Amino acid sequence: MGRVKLKRPEKSILLTGLRGVGKTVLLIEIERLAQADGYRTILIEAHEDKRLATLLAPHLRRLLFDLDRIKAAGDKVRRGISVLKSFISGFKVSYGDLEFSLDIEPEKGTADSGDLEIDLPNLFVAVGEAAEERQVAVAIMIDEIQYFTASELSALIMAMHRLQQRQLPLVLIGAGLPILPGLAGESKSYAERLFNFPDVGALSEADATKALQDPVKAMGVEFELAALKEIVRLTKGYPYFIQEWGYQAWNHAPDTPITLEITQQASKLVQERLDHNFFRVRFDRLTPREKDYLRAMAELGAGPYRTGDIADILGTKITALGPVRASLIKKGMIYSPEHGDMAFTVPLFDEFMRRTMPRFQSKRKKKTARKKN
Ligand SMILES: Nc1ncnc2c1ncn2[C@@H]1O[C@H](COP(=O)(O)OP(=O)(O)OP(=O)(O)O)[C@@H](O)[C@H]1O
Ligand SMILES: [Mg+2]
Repeated sequence: MGRVKLKRPEKSILLTGLRGVGKTVLLIEIERLAQADGYRTILIEAHEDKRLATLLAPHLRRLLFDLDRIKAAGDKVRRGISVLKSFISGFKVSYGDLEFSLDIEPEKGTADSGDLEIDLPNLFVAVGEAAEERQVAVAIMIDEIQYFTASELSALIMAMHRLQQRQLPLVLIGAGLPILPGLAGESKSYAERLFNFPDVGALSEADATKALQDPVKAMGVEFELAALKEIVRLTKGYPYFIQEWGYQAWNHAPDTPITLEITQQASKLVQERLDHNFFRVRFDRLTPREKDYLRAMAELGAGPYRTGDIADILGTKITALGPVRASLIKKGMIYSPEHGDMAFTVPLFDEFMRRTMPRFQSKRKKKTARKKN
């Protein structure tokens, strides 16, 4: 961020990882650090059925109006506002509260073609130039970035490419499920050059232990070593689960130290709570066919899974499963870590699927059984 502020070339960052590993927590922390360093920030969360242009426009409007208040010579901010106005007309963003000061006309012919891959780079450059003129740096933070369509992602990538060529003080920090495997051709190779993709994952045993032990120590309490080991084993180091286990173990313990026995008693509560909340809310959004697909995955263990193996278990062809696979990806339940592979986005979801649908019949097993007869 220091380099971007000095208009030196630097890659933007997309934090990627599974559900509940702490991406949003990190994004908010990065925003805090950026603000402390004088950055103007925008934080938006992408959504299954909201378009990038609609999400971005109100925030850029606020940003440009903020920049307008910084007194300095020049007309780049006014130009930014007028480019944004024309961008909004190109994408028919209808926002009741998107009233602009009336004395600025849209800049006709800039960022209003309606083709996001052309308009977004133009808009970002106008915003970047406005920021440069007022001598501030801008960070655009986008959470749940996987919900953007391939063409929206490609437009974002093109926009960052243009900014980097001009070395304007604007950086993009994103977070979400892994997106690189879903990108194709040119945008993939651009993305690899323009962004770092730090992988946010489970904590190491040492870090998980520290995450549990430090907060209770601060209160004069300790976990027994065996209790810590048990929680690390059950959570596999996933931050959200550590949070839940730590919470219940703490509430359940009458005294210090928190023992293995207390932890085991708490485990039952945690499992129930997770099944009823964390896992269940996701499960309940699925159609019966989608549930079967996920259950077939779970049949194969912890994954990742070959799409062909999943089809085998369901006793059907890979191609016949295209639509259900696509809708599960759209719902953010599964993703493709590599071509031909599928994986759950929620840690330990395979265990939940086996628990919640215990009487699942693999068609593959039936077939081989018939052959034997
Ligand atoms: N640094 C941290 N300190 C304390 N708790 C944390 C930390 N990081 C993660 N957690 C715990 O993990 C939970 C999930 O974190 P977060 O919401 O950031 O995950 P995420 O990766 O954004 O998940 P999703 O993909 O579902 O949005 C938090 O609500 C919190 O309980
Ligand atoms: Mg999140």
